[in-house]
Amino acid sequence: MQNGSQSEASDGGSDGDTKRRPRLRQRRRRASGWFDSHPRFLETSHTAINPGRLNMRYQALIADNADILAGARVLDIASHDGRWALAALEAGAAHVTSIEARPDLVDNAHETFAHYGADPSRYTMIAGDVFAVLKEQRFDVDVIQCFGFLYHTLRYPELFSALRKLEPRHLVVDTRVHRASASLIRVYVNETTVQSNAAFDDYTEGTKTLVGSPSPKALRRMLGVFGFTVEREYDWEAASRDAGAAVGTYERGERITWRCSWDVPRRSKQYTDHDPDGDADADADAEAEGD
Ligand SMILES: C[S@@+](CC[C@H](N)C(=O)[O-])C[C@H]1O[C@@H](n2cnc3c(N)ncnc32)[C@H](O)[C@@H]1O
Repeated sequence: MQNGSQSEASDGGSDGDTKRRPRLRQRRRRASGWFDSHPRFLETSHTAINPGRLNMRYQALIADNADILAGARVLDIASHDGRWALAALEAGAAHVTSIEARPDLVDNAHETFAHYGADPSRYTMIAGDVFAVLKEQRFDVDVIQCFGFLYHTLRYPELFSALRKLEPRHLVVDTRVHRASASLIRVYVNETTVQSNAAFDDYTEGTKTLVGSPSPKALRRMLGVFGFTVEREYDWEAASRDAGAAVGTYERGERITWRCSWDVPRRSKQYTDHDPDGDADADADAEAEGD
């Protein structure tokens, strides 16, 4: 993460983690799991393909949510090569719709799904910009998977508003976060020619797109406005301890996995004197940051 740019290459790559935290090397073990029986995913992308880390993420993103995935209609946004869409299907989802901007990755996903014998009537893959697709199409969904995307956009209100219009029961979020106790979004620039990064969209200038990393407090606050409540936070520290494996960014609190439930936000029709997200809170945050 240098010069204000950010890409997946700096996140979860074993080199980066090992250099910064030599302590972890002693207890680093490679976690086994779902990706060992789906090795094609190690070839269909350049992004975050460390098998041990993928297996650990499988536990957090899919296995830990097996109860809500069973029989569910799932929307997987920023689906990449389809890794989490197929994982959700095999975990018992009734149907998965995936949205991914980069067509070559969608082609790879089609081939991989066929290779592993997924039933074509149980999935739909859409190649397109998630914002444009959500504007144009309506989906019936129970669970939305938003993995590895929130730090490749700065369009949070637009995204959460579109997601809540789908009235899902759950939203599972896995994202890098800005490690700060205050409610902040750190702004970066993504180079759209990098496979893992923000795709070219209406706000791309040349090849550059503004993206952000919200702090946990900012993310929770934004989700809350759109009716999403964090139901549980995956305990990455315990998971890595149990597996005897390191998951650097997660363990350092630079990445989170949250399961949120959705309920219609209650809106007051009258003026009140109390604003729970208002100035007092903003002042406290600014003080905490030394502003
Ligand atoms: C870091 S990868 C995440 C892959 C996968 N979801 C995961 O968590 O392992 C980010 C993905 O988002 C896709 N993406 C970026 N901007 C997008 C957009 N506006 N619409 C759809 N997909 C987008 C990228 O092409 C890339 O495949």
